[in-house]
Amino acid sequence: MINKKMASELNTQLNKEFYSAYLYLGMSSWCANTGYNGGASWFMLQYEEESMHALKIYKYILDQGSKIELLAIEQPDINYTSLLECFKDSLKHEQMMTHSLNELCDLASKQKDHASYGFLQWFIQEQIEEEASVGEIISKLKLVGDGNGIFMIDSQLSQRKSGTQVSE
Ligand code: FEO
Repeated sequence: MINKKMASELNTQLNKEFYSAYLYLGMSSWCANTGYNGGASWFMLQYEEESMHALKIYKYILDQGSKIELLAIEQPDINYTSLLECFKDSLKHEQMMTHSLNELCDLASKQKDHASYGFLQWFIQEQIEEEASVGEIISKLKLVGDGNGIFMIDSQLSQRKSGTQVSE
C-alpha cells in the first residue's frame, strides 16, 4: 500500500513517461520526414522504451492497490532544424526526467516508503544510461558539424538494437 500523495506523484510520473514516448515518436517522425532513417529508427526504439517505462509504473501503481489516473498527454513541439537540435532537446528532456525521478525518490525516502524507493532505483539507473548515450551522440554530431559525417552517424544510429543504446 502506498499513500495518496505517492500514488498521485506516481501518476504524474506515468504521464511524463507517456509524454516521453510521444516526444520520441515525434522525433522519429521528424527524422523520417527529413531523410535521417537511422535517427528515425533510433527514436522509434526510444519510443518503445519509454512506453515500457510507463507500463512499469502503471503496473506498480495497480500492484499497490492505487488508482490509475490517465492524465492528458501534452502535444510535443517537434519543429527541429537539425539532427543535433533534436538530440539536444532529447538530452534536456532526459535531464528533466532525472530531476523528476530524484524528487520522487526524495518523497519515498521522506515517507519511509521503502517499496517505492526500491522500485524507483531501476529508473534512476536507467537515466544514467540514457543521458550518457544521448550525450555521446551529441558530441559526435558536434564533431562532424554540417559535413557528410552526419550520414555516417545516421547510419550508426540505425544499428541500435531494441533495449540497447548506440554506444553499446
Ligand atoms: Fe523514461 Fe527516458 O525517461
